[in-house]
Amino acid sequence: MIYQLVYGTPDVDSESVINKRKVAVLKPFNDEFYKIDGIFEDVEITNNSEELVVKRKVLEKGMAFGFGDKVGSFNRWGKKYVFWNTDNYTHHPDADPLYKSFPFYIFIAKNFKYGVFTDYPGFLEIDLDSEGKQEVVFKIKGTGFIQYIIIGKTIKDILKQYLYLTGKNTAFPKWAFGYQQSRWSYFTEKQVLEVANSFRKKKIPCDVIYLDIDYMDSYKVFTWDKKNFKNHKKMIQKLHDKGFKISAIIDPGIKVEKNYKVFEEGKNRYFLKEPNGEDFEGAVWPGRVRFPDFRARKVRKWWSKKIKDLHSEGIDGFWNDMNEISIFATEKDIKEIKDLVNNIKLEDGIDLAIKSGTIGEIGKRDRGNDIVHLDGTIHYKVKNTYGFNMIRSAYDGFEKNERRMLITRSAYSGVQRYGGVWTGDNHSWWEHISLEMNRLMSLSLVGVFYNGCDVGGFNGNATAELLVRFMQFGSFIPMFRNHSALGTKNQEPWSFGKKYEELMRKIIEYRYRLIPYIYTEYMIGVMKDFPLLSPLFFNFESDERTFLVDDQFMLGRNIIVCPVYKPGLNKRVVYLPKRALDLNKKVFLSKGWHEVEAPLEEIPHFLVDGSIMPTQKVMSYVDEKESDITAIVSAYNDKAIGYYYEDDGISNNYKKGMYNLYKIVYEKNKIEVKKIRENYLHTKKLWNFKIYTKHHIKEIKMKI
Ligand code: GLC
Repeated sequence: MIYQLVYGTPDVDSESVINKRKVAVLKPFNDEFYKIDGIFEDVEITNNSEELVVKRKVLEKGMAFGFGDKVGSFNRWGKKYVFWNTDNYTHHPDADPLYKSFPFYIFIAKNFKYGVFTDYPGFLEIDLDSEGKQEVVFKIKGTGFIQYIIIGKTIKDILKQYLYLTGKNTAFPKWAFGYQQSRWSYFTEKQVLEVANSFRKKKIPCDVIYLDIDYMDSYKVFTWDKKNFKNHKKMIQKLHDKGFKISAIIDPGIKVEKNYKVFEEGKNRYFLKEPNGEDFEGAVWPGRVRFPDFRARKVRKWWSKKIKDLHSEGIDGFWNDMNEISIFATEKDIKEIKDLVNNIKLEDGIDLAIKSGTIGEIGKRDRGNDIVHLDGTIHYKVKNTYGFNMIRSAYDGFEKNERRMLITRSAYSGVQRYGGVWTGDNHSWWEHISLEMNRLMSLSLVGVFYNGCDVGGFNGNATAELLVRFMQFGSFIPMFRNHSALGTKNQEPWSFGKKYEELMRKIIEYRYRLIPYIYTEYMIGVMKDFPLLSPLFFNFESDERTFLVDDQFMLGRNIIVCPVYKPGLNKRVVYLPKRALDLNKKVFLSKGWHEVEAPLEEIPHFLVDGSIMPTQKVMSYVDEKESDITAIVSAYNDKAIGYYYEDDGISNNYKKGMYNLYKIVYEKNKIEVKKIRENYLHTKKLWNFKIYTKHHIKEIKMKI
């Protein structure tokens, strides 16, 4: 059940909710106060020309999960959060706001579970009882907002309804589940090819190579560096011939430069404006830049044509960055800094600290007032949808029936309709392995199923041990991409010598073995609205203990992953909500807490009892060749069920039902294959079932 609540007079459309979705319009119990019996009751509303604040009593104690990749504790209750997309690159536990705004959380109490989606694209604050009085407060700097209360029996059901409202996930191509290598930057086409060749020579599987900003000429988007990427077409061809896909970074800041085509076309037509009507200017990588107004349809159309051209040159995917919008400074900022510095003396002491702390991006909330959209909307009111509209425009640069590989750093609710996200500039810190676990689970809970983080850590220098543990974790998340920053230690799998190279090859190989399982779970999830990566409670919500486990997660519905996120450890404690097969030791562990071995070469992970995991042979890249299937059957009591999905992996024909889905039932020595759908070219494969039961291990071979 979805209730719509309207506060004040909303004057901007966030574009997050799909048109004409059926919702129940809740009636206020007096002029503007709302309540739902047993759940909540508004107690105070302040509405003046500047802001609208709703204070609400929450009638039952509980926990809250969601908000996407914010930092801090996984259970969001007890803290205040700001939604104001910002390039905030040091992810310490209090860093807020960050790049994205997903103002949706799921509240879990004893008698009720419900989702709260506060759909407002401008400055928004949500205080989840930071004062400990059982009160939540929603504050916007604007005239009104719409909120949706989603009531469901289960968390799965709440998420499904949220996706009904904001749209289904677009399916990524199958190759997007292979290993991906990135770095800021591979500076020349020679370097790019060397990295790619090393993967093939060293027999380390890899599907995607990334091009960071240095492929461009002076950071001018939609250009190529004429010296270092002189033969980029040949480079692309060579990469494709070897089975690689290429993803290129795209930044919104357009360099102000005479005769630069993109600038000339956009000038005085497509760019965000100053209040006086002139194009707004700021500084990003290229220096002085202007920013397309992606809110305007004509601008999206113009941009998507450029994406289309680059795509037809052979760039397979696009990595949309700096779209919060990240602005290093404006002329006004520089003037302010100068004024500040002019008057600063060392004698100023604390005052000096306060003044110097106001310089920089994070504090620049007022900047939204200086920018005006082409339709006259003040940027302040819609800032959080800038990245959303940028990736939306990139989405239109592809053929309708083609799957897109699009990720964005900045986003708003509903972005899953166009692509996926990564968590921005993390660090090569141990703490960030556990942080990223929380963030990815939270992203899944706000409906973004293709999510990932910079594996190995972006800023700072990785150590060999950290990289191995980060890679182990990364090999079980939807987007397995290793990326690192300029000036940091290299993180390619061979960067720490032979011993570690071997370990990392094994990790990546294992990912490729799991592709049939991963792809099956992902595609069923896309169709049925459940995430590929999820917290334990998503699948085991009747077990209260799962809500306290934030350092484990599930890949698909059947694998429980327990990464090691501290140095020097060779054991860790894990919680199993159900009996499961230890996939390292191949023994069953019962429901409950266990201390398990975790030497550097192993990441504890388990296959839930009663399930089947199809795996394939290692290959250099996804779908390099046909493979037999080895299915691991976790059948303590001689019973298990599994699924196998296949389609072309690149088109949207699955929407027309052009796929195969088999349900495989194992019971007492017999395998039964049920065709749920068989509507795609199917070549029979040899399946080797490795069956683990309480008594013995057995094998069954058959063609399916
Ligand atoms: C931003 C991105 C990062 C990229 C860098 C250079 O910091 O978050 O991933 O490498 O810009 O383009």
